[in-house]
Amino acid sequence: MLEEVPILRKTIEERLSSISDLKSLEAFRLEFLVKKGKVQALFDRMKEAPVEQKPILGKELNVLRKFVEGAFADLKEKFESQASTKSKIDLTLPGRTHSVGTYHPVYQTMEQMVNIFVEMGFSIAEGPDVEDGYHNFDALNFPPDHPARDMQDTFFMKNGENLLLRTHTSPVQIRVMQGMTPPIRSIMPGRVYRNESINARSLAEFHQIEGLYIDKNVSFAELKATMMVFAKKMYGENSKFRFRPSFFPFTEPSAEMDITCFLCGGKGCRVCKHSGWLEIVGCGMVHPNVLRNGGIDPEIYSGYAFGFGIERVSLLKTGVDDIRLLYENDTRFLNQF
Ligand code: DAH
Repeated sequence: MLEEVPILRKTIEERLSSISDLKSLEAFRLEFLVKKGKVQALFDRMKEAPVEQKPILGKELNVLRKFVEGAFADLKEKFESQASTKSKIDLTLPGRTHSVGTYHPVYQTMEQMVNIFVEMGFSIAEGPDVEDGYHNFDALNFPPDHPARDMQDTFFMKNGENLLLRTHTSPVQIRVMQGMTPPIRSIMPGRVYRNESINARSLAEFHQIEGLYIDKNVSFAELKATMMVFAKKMYGENSKFRFRPSFFPFTEPSAEMDITCFLCGGKGCRVCKHSGWLEIVGCGMVHPNVLRNGGIDPEIYSGYAFGFGIERVSLLKTGVDDIRLLYENDTRFLNQF
């Protein structure tokens, strides 16, 4: 009987080598591994063996059973994993790609502008979006009947005791002056809000960068030079600019700087309202009342201030002619920048 063990093992090994799928594996199991299978049959016949052979026979049969069970388990796992991979993965499908995000064009413009001023020695300051009437208007020398204070132009907070959404970044000037002693060189980027109808040129929510420079003997010439250096860095050496006299309650004298219209090159079109020029910044010498409200003595110090609309600068940079496109968040548009 002992000699039957290696014979059966040889048969099993031969059969194993011809198993090619789950079906033939099942046939193998039924032949060798079930209770009535050929391995168990040998176990059952152990009682016929001579007594002295029994221990060694038992050992050999156990080795054989372990071998069959192991080989069966290995093949089962192999065929099952092949089957599941085949049904779940379609290698002909196109791969899934992850698109890489970009900074929003308005943010990119803001960063570029901020960097130019930081290179010129300005530091960055910020103020709250929800302001009080004092910082947004009074401290900036707005007379009590100024139209900008009107409900039509300003979003007031409900039950807000004179709280509002800031209509410009100029109130941050007051906060900076109150917190520092000159020399002051600050730029103040941020979001601003106006109760305006939305069209190709204006939005109810947009961004500005405010600038403030205060020291002894600051002149209008320095303001002009700073604006020109900024504009040439932003738009290139050959861009054309002009200064126009203007009015703001918080500066005296006041000016606006224009750049040649990007769309018509100066000939006149709907974007520039047929003037050939686009206004990019309001600026001027800080009004003595404003200095006083900021806790600074106008007899000792003078300064200049300026305020850019960032969306406007961004449109000029990118050649996009409708400001609303910036906020529709259509990634096909945004991915171009
Ligand atoms: N705050 C003004 C606006 O929202 C822009 C501005 C003009 C800011 C002149 C200034 C300035 O600092 O000097 O239209």
